[in-house]
Amino acid sequence: MPRALLVYDDEPRARVEMLDAARLPEHAVTVDIDYSDLNYKDALAVTGSGPIVRHYPLVPGIDFAGSVAHSDDDRYEPGDKVILTGWGVGESHWGGFAERMTIDPDWLVPCPGPLSTRQTMLLGTAGLTAMLALMRLEEAGLEPGDGPVAVTGASGGVGSWAVQMLAHAGYEVHAITGKPERNDWLRELGASELLPRADFEAKARPLEKQRWAGAVDALGGPVLATLLAQGRYYARIATVGLAGDSALPTTVMPFILRGASLLGVDSAYIPFERRRAAWQRIASLPHLMFERMAVEEIALEAIADKAQAMIDGRTHGRILIRPTA
Ligand SMILES: NC(=O)c1ccc[n+]([C@@H]2O[C@H](COP(=O)([O-])OP(=O)(O)OC[C@H]3O[C@@H](n4cnc5c(N)ncnc54)[C@H](OP(=O)(O)O)[C@@H]3O)[C@@H](O)[C@H]2O)c1
Repeated sequence: MPRALLVYDDEPRARVEMLDAARLPEHAVTVDIDYSDLNYKDALAVTGSGPIVRHYPLVPGIDFAGSVAHSDDDRYEPGDKVILTGWGVGESHWGGFAERMTIDPDWLVPCPGPLSTRQTMLLGTAGLTAMLALMRLEEAGLEPGDGPVAVTGASGGVGSWAVQMLAHAGYEVHAITGKPERNDWLRELGASELLPRADFEAKARPLEKQRWAGAVDALGGPVLATLLAQGRYYARIATVGLAGDSALPTTVMPFILRGASLLGVDSAYIPFERRRAAWQRIASLPHLMFERMAVEEIALEAIADKAQAMIDGRTHGRILIRPTA
C-alpha cells in the first residue's frame, strides 16, 4: 500500500501513513510519484509556520513528477511521464509527498523529452519560477548588455536557479546572499559578484545610486525596496517571493523618475501553454546546469526536520524527496 506524509492540526503534526486507494481524492489521473521536492511553501505547510494548509489532514507537496498509473482522461495514458506544479496542490488539494496520488489532468504538463522526472524536480516550482522570472524580464525588454542583474535569496531554490539561468542567457549576475559560505558555489553557478544581504536590509532612501538594470527578488521587504531605489533608468525588477517580508516599504520615485518596472511572477496558476513553453525552455538548458545544482535527497520520514531547517534558513540549493526510498 502506498505511503504518504500527512499533516494534521494536532501533534504530532507530520505523520507518515499508509494511503489506501479509498482515501485518495477523486481525480481522473493517478500518478506513481518518482520525486517531489521541498519548497519554502511546503516548509510553511509542514511546520505550520504559515497559513498554507486549507484543510486537515492534508498531504503537502506543491510539486511532483512521475508516471501515469491510471487515466480516465484522453490526454494521458499509463506510462506517460508527467510534471505537476502549483494549482493549489499541497495547499487546498493533496500533493506530492506520497508514493501515489490522484490528480486533475488539467494541472499536469507532459515531461519534456530529454528531461528525467528527477531532473524536473531538481527545478520544481523553484526552477520553473526562475525561468518565468527570466521570461518576464526578457519580455519587458531587458537585454544582457544593459548592465548588472541582482538576484536575492541567491542560495535558495529560486535564487540559485535564477543565477544559473540568467548567467547562461548572458547576463552579468550579482548574487545577494546571507550565506557567505555559499559564495564559491554561487560563483560556480555563474555569479560574477557576491554581495552580503545585510547591505540591502536597511531602510532605503527613495532613490539611491543607480546600479541594477534588472533583478530577481525572492525576499520582498526592505531588500526589494533597496533594489528599486538602486535601479538604473528603466530597470526591470521581477518580484517572486517574500522570504524576507511581504511588505514593500517603497515610494513612487523609482517608477516616476526612473521609469522602473516591477514585474510580478506567479508560477501556481499560469496557463498550460505558458507552463509548457517554460518547461520546454528548461529542457533545452545544458546538462551541466543540473549537475551543478546542490541537491540533497531525502525520504518521507526526513521531511519534517528538513522543513524546519528551511524555515530557519539552514538549507541551500534543492531538496529532493524520493517517496519510495
Ligand atoms: N511567485 C511564485 O510563484 C513563487 C514560486 C516559488 C517560490 N516563491 C517564493 O519565493 C521565495 C523563495 O522560495 P525558495 O523556494 O527559493 O525558498 P528557499 O529555498 O528557502 O530560499 C529562500 C532564500 O531566501 C533567503 N532567506 C531565507 N529566510 C530569510 C529571511 N528570514 N530573511 C531574508 N532572507 C531569507 C535565503 O537566501 P540567502 O541566505 O542566500 O539570502 C534562502 O536560501 C519564497 O518566499 C517563496 O514563497 C514564489
